[in-house]
Amino acid sequence: MRSSKDFFRPLAVGAPQPVTEIPARPSRAIHFFDPSNEKMAAKIPQMVGTVDVLLGNLEDAVKADNKEAARAGLVRIAKETDFGPTQLWTRINALDSPWVLDDLTTLVAEIGDKLDVIMVPKVQGAEDIHYIDRILAQLEAKAGLTRPILVHAILETARGVANVEEICGASPRMQGLSLGPADLAADRRMKTTRVGGGHPGYLVREDPNPDQPEARRPTYQQDLWHYTISRMVDACAMHGIYPYYGPFGDIADVTACEDQFRNAFLLGCVGTWSLHPKQIEIANRVFAPSVEDITHARRVVAAMGDGTGAVMLDGKMEDDASLKQCLVMVELADQLAAIDPVLKAQYDAIQIEAHA
Ligand code: GLV
Ligand code: MG
Repeated sequence: MRSSKDFFRPLAVGAPQPVTEIPARPSRAIHFFDPSNEKMAAKIPQMVGTVDVLLGNLEDAVKADNKEAARAGLVRIAKETDFGPTQLWTRINALDSPWVLDDLTTLVAEIGDKLDVIMVPKVQGAEDIHYIDRILAQLEAKAGLTRPILVHAILETARGVANVEEICGASPRMQGLSLGPADLAADRRMKTTRVGGGHPGYLVREDPNPDQPEARRPTYQQDLWHYTISRMVDACAMHGIYPYYGPFGDIADVTACEDQFRNAFLLGCVGTWSLHPKQIEIANRVFAPSVEDITHARRVVAAMGDGTGAVMLDGKMEDDASLKQCLVMVELADQLAAIDPVLKAQYDAIQIEAHA
């Protein structure tokens, strides 16, 4: 057993001090790009500032023959690009692959000072995070880094879901979790063939009308991911880290994509992956509180004074607990306004109207 005091000691001599809190940096969209794809890579510098996170993907969707080119491409892009307010993340290859060790040694040595977060796929349990934690500390010490690189795990195996709480608490580096619906579906032996989203076959049907037993009975499609996202959100909240939706593969279906993103936002997720520039616009909109929500939240905050007791607002009871919900929204709006001038203008206009 490790003493709790050891938890915040570096795991290698000369490695940076572990963080005691994960900063709440806006990350509405984590935009994936393949650094071995020259056309895609050429667009990266222009995307800085238009998306909260740019992620150089080295794992699935990069062909085996391109793994080294993707790693080298990411090093080159990271060195040549000033990322300004945009975070740079990478998704390394899986821990059971022949590429992951070279991914880690190359990336930390070459661009460790530029990488904010390393996303680790197919995490099964705390032991996977312990492996990454130690090796990162060794590599950070060797590279002379002064700030620890954070770690994000993808929840995409049945064992990972069963161990989700211990994964979140396995290292002070743990920044968050993403749902990996495609690998998770395969690992669970679900009978779907899609990347994220719902399925028309997963439904409930209304009872028959006894007066018209032959009448059509409406059906309601259910959300395949509700259970997993809820578990992920609880595990992340318990450990002070951040949950994210993952990939939505049907790029053309922007409506269903927006619905999945919004469900995840309402359940507590802070962001999602983007596989195409048009998903960035959806994520930026969905993962920011609406002007209506912030208008209401600020009214509740103002009406609640010292934050105790209860008040009636528009015929509805507000108390300490609804105030806390409103504060979650107001804090998120403040964080987003600090980096997004369009949102700032919208949220600032509310104050003018509220006090007019
Ligand atoms: C993402 O990696 C997924 O498997 O859905
Ligand atoms: Mg996957």
